[in-house]
Amino acid sequence: MTYKNKISVSVMCSDLMNLGADIIELKRNGVDMLHVDVMDAHFVPNLTFGLDFIKAMHDVTDMPLDIHLMADDPFSLIQHMDLRKGDIVTIHVELGINAKPIKDYLAEKGVAFGMAVSPETPVETLKQYLPILDTVTLMLVRPGFAGGKLIDGILDKVGETRNFLDSNGYNNIEISVDGSVSCERAKKMAKDGASIFVGGTAGIYRKGMKLSDTVPAFRQAIS
Ligand code: DX5
Ligand code: ZN
Repeated sequence: MTYKNKISVSVMCSDLMNLGADIIELKRNGVDMLHVDVMDAHFVPNLTFGLDFIKAMHDVTDMPLDIHLMADDPFSLIQHMDLRKGDIVTIHVELGINAKPIKDYLAEKGVAFGMAVSPETPVETLKQYLPILDTVTLMLVRPGFAGGKLIDGILDKVGETRNFLDSNGYNNIEISVDGSVSCERAKKMAKDGASIFVGGTAGIYRKGMKLSDTVPAFRQAIS
């Protein structure tokens, strides 16, 4: 199955004091989704956007939100979250929880359900969840902060994951890649079977460059 390759821009990398303007500019440059990293200072040391922020994002843009939960109790957050049809909500497989209630809750709202895999976690850990997943997110850096260092050898995990999913009969599950995704890396990962590319400091918010230059370059890389 082939997918339209999508750009999901990480808003924690945006100019947070001018985020509204950034969002308009991102939309104007054809970005597909906004990647919102929700961190609870437990699952990862960092603390980022809360529920009111998610609502404010929905009120200011019709772009779908690609919500990446790095939180110990995702279902509680999800049940209090302003979710819209077309959003994606991703939790971490490392939580080891029964995710079916979350899947059912999200499906009811037309929201896709994904699982993220930290760099050190084998993708086979996802096996029991495959029947309920819409997407798999491969973390290319240690989760928790923007501007993280790419983990050595991690890019090979994209092709391995694509093979793992397809050989288990799940070519319907999209692969998202998250963390230090530069244009060059995105180009390689697109070839290896990724179709959602999280653009942050490496790919979109590049030092000294305008969004009107970096977004088209990123699009070119994944096309
Ligand atoms: C890190 C987050 C990523 C991060 C991407 O834990 O999940 O989405 O914001 O930012 P860069 O591209 O700078 O690694
Ligand atoms: Zn993320």
